[in-house]
Amino acid sequence: MTTTAAAAAAAPPALAARAREVAASPVREILALTARPEVISFAGGLPAPELFDAAGLRAAYDRVLAERPRTVLQYSTTEGDPALRAAVAARLTGRGLATDADDLVVTGGSQQGLALLATVLLEPGDVVLVESPTYLAALQCFGFAGARVVPVPTDEDGVLPDALEELVLRERPKLLYLIPDFQNPTGRTLPAERRRAVAEVAGRHGLWIAEDDPYGELRFEGDRLPWISSHEAAADRTALLGSFSKVMAPGMRLGWLRAPAALRRPCVIAKQAADLHTSTVDQAAAARYLADNDLDAHLDRVRTAYRARRDALLAGLPAVLPAGSTWNRPEGGMFVWVRLPAGQDATALLRTAITHNVAYVPGAPFYAAEPDPATLRMSFTTHTPEEISEGLRRLALSFG
Ligand SMILES: Cc1ncc(COP(=O)(O)O)c(C=O)c1O
Repeated sequence: MTTTAAAAAAAPPALAARAREVAASPVREILALTARPEVISFAGGLPAPELFDAAGLRAAYDRVLAERPRTVLQYSTTEGDPALRAAVAARLTGRGLATDADDLVVTGGSQQGLALLATVLLEPGDVVLVESPTYLAALQCFGFAGARVVPVPTDEDGVLPDALEELVLRERPKLLYLIPDFQNPTGRTLPAERRRAVAEVAGRHGLWIAEDDPYGELRFEGDRLPWISSHEAAADRTALLGSFSKVMAPGMRLGWLRAPAALRRPCVIAKQAADLHTSTVDQAAAARYLADNDLDAHLDRVRTAYRARRDALLAGLPAVLPAGSTWNRPEGGMFVWVRLPAGQDATALLRTAITHNVAYVPGAPFYAAEPDPATLRMSFTTHTPEEISEGLRRLALSFG
């Protein structure tokens, strides 16, 4: 009797529709094959681990745990560590974006900032405009919110303001998501005059902007451009997302959200519901690290290494890619974007590349709508110039 009853037990209720609809990327399974140590991978979006300032971070953790164990191991406020917020505010202000510690919320990486914005802004069916292509996990985040994601036409410099305005009038979006500096996946940077134009479109037609900037500090040539957030036209409707992942260490999971009070307050409540607050000890260690060390000197070392790695990649690409391929030359960040000649399929070629122990990410999953199968992203950060040359030699065999 009991056995029969157990066998006849009703199935548990279905997952929420949003959990059923947001698919895992099919490329994930292929990329799982690239974890073997013999593979030279241009696929990951990771900072170079040998450049982490492990000694400096360890000293910062040691100090806060020795000096204030009862505080740094305790629960803390949702908004975040006051010293860390003050340090971020000072960096932003120093770069021309007047910011108060109270304008900021510390988040679990900028990814949580995105999730908070989606939670407080998006109803199912709301339209979110994105660059085409754009950051994969942002597409997932907007997908979980049930948003309809619509790509804005772009060229080699990012979104086209006129096309953006047309789409805004037609689609009535609630949110525009942009990565203006060294975009993921394309490495593109939005020129200053387009940043102003985007802010003006948002001001004229009333939409929120999420300005995601995890890579801006990784500029190794050219001049820094003003954030969209610094334009008066959109100051009351732009959220700037920042991250310590690419400048300190992604494992600490620290980022921040700078937003006007009307948006920041509901984000704080949404964060309370999600995780109460970001790790107290990690925030305290980061604040200590910033007080005791020269982050810019550390970043100079990182930028110098990344620049040499970018140069090694760019120097080798012409001999490796099929005739008719195009690619860009980013002034910073982590990625080069390649377009193979029309008709080529970067996903199919990746399978061959993996047999030669080299990998990249096909571009297709980064598109919200119609993908370009001939595109691919190459990250230049995690290998030395010598390894990059060897990886390119293997890639030549794959494209041969
Ligand atoms: C454009 C973009 N936004 C956000 C993130 C998430 O970064 P974090 O580690 O700060 O959550 C990444 C990570 O690669 C990214 O490329």
